Amino acid sequence: MDPKQFGSSTLPYRHEPTGPLADECLVGANKGRLAVVTGAGRGIGQAIAIALAKSSANVAILDLSVESQEETKLACQKFEGVKVEAYKCDITDVQAVRATFAAIDRAFGPVDILVNNAGVAHGKLAFEETFENFWKAIEINFKGTMLCIYEVLQSMRERKSGCIINMASRAATVDMPGGVSYNSSKAAVVRATASLQEEFEQEGLGQNLHTYCLHPGGVWGAMVTENTTPEVQQQIRPIFKDVPELCGNTIAYLASGRAKELRGHYFDCRQEIERVCSFGYKTLRDYGLYNLGVKFLPGYENEP
Ligand SMILES: NC(=O)c1ccc[n+]([C@@H]2O[C@H](COP(=O)([O-])OP(=O)(O)OC[C@H]3O[C@@H](n4cnc5c(N)ncnc54)[C@H](O)[C@@H]3O)[C@@H](O)[C@H]2O)c1
Repeated sequence: MDPKQFGSSTLPYRHEPTGPLADECLVGANKGRLAVVTGAGRGIGQAIAIALAKSSANVAILDLSVESQEETKLACQKFEGVKVEAYKCDITDVQAVRATFAAIDRAFGPVDILVNNAGVAHGKLAFEETFENFWKAIEINFKGTMLCIYEVLQSMRERKSGCIINMASRAATVDMPGGVSYNSSKAAVVRATASLQEEFEQEGLGQNLHTYCLHPGGVWGAMVTENTTPEVQQQIRPIFKDVPELCGNTIAYLASGRAKELRGHYFDCRQEIERVCSFGYKTLRDYGLYNLGVKFLPGYENEP
């Protein structure tokens, strides 16, 4: 990972939740709302569930087993008045996802906030892995995300209200060896998020139905350590500077509707959210900022 290849920001990055993202600013921000968080058993998903509970949302948490979510559930229950339930759900399994969302609806009512966090990164070169392994990652990162979206879409549209936040990654924006399944599935998530928002805008629902996709920063944890050798870990450890709460609190902030200027966009949680929002929805959109795009030689435009 050569920094010269990507450049370094001249503006400071956040590595932990400060300013408007500080815990005390989020209390009550999502009161009375129901949030669903996938992959909540550990890592960033755990921090997201806790941040949403901290912001007074009720939380339905999903992962491959209920037991793996015990710690998250206990941490969320510490917030007064917050209702929490854990569900075993493999997000690639259509029947399981439908049954889980039906159970959530029975227990809590309609979903207000959906956070598609569950994801995997195998970190293998294409010629080192099988197609089946490649496709499994696409299924978790993209199919699973879309499946959960389809479970809430009609209800959010009918109620003209809802927030969907998808976990992308910086990997969606760069071409890197060792990540064909990861990079392409995360890029698909970014494109789907933006296209979905365009549909909401077209229906005049954009202010109330808002979607985002995120890079959480570099968060050291099992996803990285399970897929790398100790030698590689030693080499890459310094670039993982961010606490999972940075992403967790950013999500509670976005879900509360405090940064709708960013709707439909890809956002890197390390950037100052209030500064980026100050440029306004139209400017970000008109200039194609915070989204995927293809650049052409001067003189050529991206004509229909
Ligand atoms: N850690 C980072 O630096 C980083 C950087 C960019 C993006 N991300 C993204 O953030 C998200 C969380 O990353 P993390 O580091 O916390 O990962 P993690 O591996 O620690 O946690 C992922 C969770 O998703 C769950 N999961 C996996 N497959 C599932 C399935 N089929 N159904 C339900 N749950 C499933 C796992 O059991 C696990 O609890 C991922 O989408 C990842 O791609 C992470």
